[in-house]
Amino acid sequence: MSLKVVDLVKSIVAGVVSEGDTVVDATVGNGNDTIFLARLVGEKGKVYGFDIQQKAINNTGELLKDLGLQNRVNLICDGHENMDKYITGDVKAVIFNLGYLPRGNRDITTLPNTTLTAVKKSLQLLQPGGITAIAAYRGHQSGKREEVLLGEYLSGLDASAFITVSVQAVNQGNNPPVLWAVQKKGGHAQLITTE
Ligand SMILES: C[S@@+](CC[C@H](N)C(=O)[O-])C[C@H]1O[C@@H](n2cnc3c(N)ncnc32)[C@H](O)[C@@H]1O
Repeated sequence: MSLKVVDLVKSIVAGVVSEGDTVVDATVGNGNDTIFLARLVGEKGKVYGFDIQQKAINNTGELLKDLGLQNRVNLICDGHENMDKYITGDVKAVIFNLGYLPRGNRDITTLPNTTLTAVKKSLQLLQPGGITAIAAYRGHQSGKREEVLLGEYLSGLDASAFITVSVQAVNQGNNPPVLWAVQKKGGHAQLITTE
């Protein structure tokens, strides 16, 4: 097991997702999380993937085709803040891997207000027991503000409806990424309990 934030996100999500589930990759980028999710949900599952960069969508589409996973993935070139236009509900997991596209244009990043809107919408779409997992990085221009906004919102979530945890390395330099995982209460698959 790896304690890197991107890997922890995957471990947490793998703990709740079953074959046939519907899940969301809110930031497709180079497609690593989309491919991970497509394998997790299996042939009968569905992955919705969002990115504002057509290049990310196209490259990931090609990768999925090469791997024979394209039929279970719906790639959408639109902001994740519009996810509710495409998905109606009953989502088991949503992954946000924030920031800029690695090896891409570092000026195109996720932005605090649209990220917050998207995270709120993801929580509405989650089914009981479902999880939204977020990896946030302070290293880019709007990353600090994004982290503060998310931290304020997530720590204020209604404790009777959601459980939120955060994980951050404490010995890895000045700007370690932060992981948040939010689980909607009420399902059987409680990953984290308060008891
Ligand atoms: C850190 S990368 C994602 C990495 C990706 N999950 C992977 O596995 O390679 C962040 C991505 O978020 C995208 N992005 C920025 N703003 C967005 C928005 N409003 N909605 C969806 N994607 C957005 C960027 O274009 C970039 O590709």
